[in-house]
Amino acid sequence: MGKLSVVGLGPGNTEGMTAQARQTLEEAELLCGYGVYIDLIHPLYPDKKVYITPMRGEIERCRYALEQAASGVKVALVCSGDAGVYGMASPVLELAGEYPEVEVDIIPGVTAALSGAALLGAPLGHDFCVISLSDLLTPGEVIEKRLRLAAQADFVICLYNPASHHRPDALKKACEVLLRVKAPETVCGLARQIGREGERVRILTLAQLREADCDMFTTAFIGSTQTRDQGGRLVTPRGYRG
Ligand SMILES: C[S@@+](CC[C@H](N)C(=O)[O-])C[C@H]1O[C@@H](n2cnc3c(N)ncnc32)[C@H](O)[C@@H]1O
Repeated sequence: MGKLSVVGLGPGNTEGMTAQARQTLEEAELLCGYGVYIDLIHPLYPDKKVYITPMRGEIERCRYALEQAASGVKVALVCSGDAGVYGMASPVLELAGEYPEVEVDIIPGVTAALSGAALLGAPLGHDFCVISLSDLLTPGEVIEKRLRLAAQADFVICLYNPASHHRPDALKKACEVLLRVKAPETVCGLARQIGREGERVRILTLAQLREADCDMFTTAFIGSTQTRDQGGRLVTPRGYRG
């Protein structure tokens, strides 16, 4: 039986990888993934075979990985953060039925909401949600509805994919939706290039976030009504009872 492991690498540095992820990569014969992630891990395993696909080549990458596993190769398909959070785990499992001879393992990793939160302090101390602003696979109206309802429910909100070349003002538009419900002084945070060269965090208000520059390597955090800037660290208390 072939084996395909879908591995979350964590935010980007080797210290951020779980021991289970390291062990799985060590055992793999072929590493597949988007070039940036293969570049992160290949120096650790220079003798392993690699297969790199472009950013939009997800389905091709999954099929290739499944086909290689079906032919008996031990394959690791790598993603940043957690493989199940806007990653390759779900497309692999959707296709896996066509390859019954392949055993698929999902190896968890530290998603950007968690690694970014730790850099900012403790913004996720109470209920939170994660919303992607990418409209490649999700209609804009769905994203807007989720933003509005998350704001009404007073979740702390982590925003993934806050910008891209095609959507330079996605974060600004999202902040405008949130500002219909939330106060402009709501405490927010930005975490950029977590665990990688150029890592940077910033605490700012929701009104400032609307005007902030960001890129696709950033995760944004919008506080709940309870979130505070406590001496330069974001803190959401664990309870609403004071
Ligand atoms: C397609 S999603 C992949 C998420 C990934 N599977 C995870 O669990 O973190 C890409 C988005 O994740 C966030 N992200 C991933 N790695 C990051 C990092 N090292 N620093 C900041 N944000 C990151 C950014 O919001 C980016 O636009």
